[in-house]
Amino acid sequence: MHNQARASITAVGHFLPDQRLTNDDLSRMVDTNDEWIRTRTGIHERRILWDKDKATSYMAIRAGAEALQKRGLTPEDIDVIIVATVTPDMSFPATACLVQAGLGASRAWGFDLSAACSGFLFAINTGANLIESGRYRRVLVIGADKMSSITDYTNRNTCVLFGDAAGAVLMEANVNGCGLIDSVLHCDGRNWESLCMLGGGSLNPPTHDTVDRKMHYIHQDGQSVFKVAVKGMADVAAEVMQRNGLTGSDVRFLVPHQANQRIIGAVARHMGLGMDRVMLNIGRYGNTTAATIPLCLYDWEHELREGDNIVIAAFGGGFTWGASYIRWAYDGAERVCIDRDTEMAVAS
Ligand code: UT7
Repeated sequence: MHNQARASITAVGHFLPDQRLTNDDLSRMVDTNDEWIRTRTGIHERRILWDKDKATSYMAIRAGAEALQKRGLTPEDIDVIIVATVTPDMSFPATACLVQAGLGASRAWGFDLSAACSGFLFAINTGANLIESGRYRRVLVIGADKMSSITDYTNRNTCVLFGDAAGAVLMEANVNGCGLIDSVLHCDGRNWESLCMLGGGSLNPPTHDTVDRKMHYIHQDGQSVFKVAVKGMADVAAEVMQRNGLTGSDVRFLVPHQANQRIIGAVARHMGLGMDRVMLNIGRYGNTTAATIPLCLYDWEHELREGDNIVIAAFGGGFTWGASYIRWAYDGAERVCIDRDTEMAVAS
């Protein structure tokens, strides 16, 4: 008997820009090559929103609209909008406000959530608590980042890694035992400088000097982040499994943040999962920060069945990291979108 209302994901939407940036394209821009990028990261290509007049909200609105359409709802049905992003259209107003207006979600309030690559994970936990409070029925959670807007395309250490995209999920109450069951979430700011954008905030407001010093671009000390990311993600995934009595064979899919295929492989091994039970699409999209996890859910939605156990795990700047155990709430095949199949066929 399940009578505790939990917050479940009831639809998934996405947006990917049409323009592709391949490893060969990048090898003409900086001193890199396809072999290095594939073997070190698993990335083959990424999508870039080159249009100067389109920003994160543009992608977020499209992803949100698709989630609503798949669920058969209208924007007026939404109570709250949470946008996880590190590339808001501007410092303020919040991108969530622009998404609210763009969708025409006339009843909704909302806000942005800044937790870098863990943003979507933190946002679904926040959304779940709003629903479990009983005060809100439908929360639209969007992970969206235009990483190209903070990427230095003359720096080979970072420019090969990132892409632009948005993913969205609708969260609603579920009384059948499905939904977000448990989470382990962390942040630790002691090593914030390993992964950050130094310029543009109140510490280093934009000046000619900050621009000259390239402080408005993402900075990452890749090796040190790599080590803590593997341990951090593996530990929280194991902890959430252990305290919910799950073994590897109980988990239908691991849904990891897509920063590096080698990190994902190490986390899966630690959990006792074969790669057939790991959502992996970094090859096609690169690291899209807050969008990676909803993009995975979108790509694998057709394989998910009601009652499937999934574990979402993320690690990112801050540092922020965590894992959530979700019992999936619907048969995804019923919501398959032709668009996705076409995209996957074209990319493979
Ligand atoms: O999403 C948020 C969290 N972020 C992460 O989880 C990212 C974690 N870090 C990583 O994924 C990896 O550290 C990277 C993919 C960023 C880098 O891979 P790595 O195996 O750690 O490479 P490295 O930084 O140790 O560099 C190894 C070599 C260096 O050359 P030397 O000093 O050995 O001569 C780099 O200069 O590879 C060189 N290198 C490149 N070579 C060709 C760095 N970038 C490139 C490149 N193409 N694009």
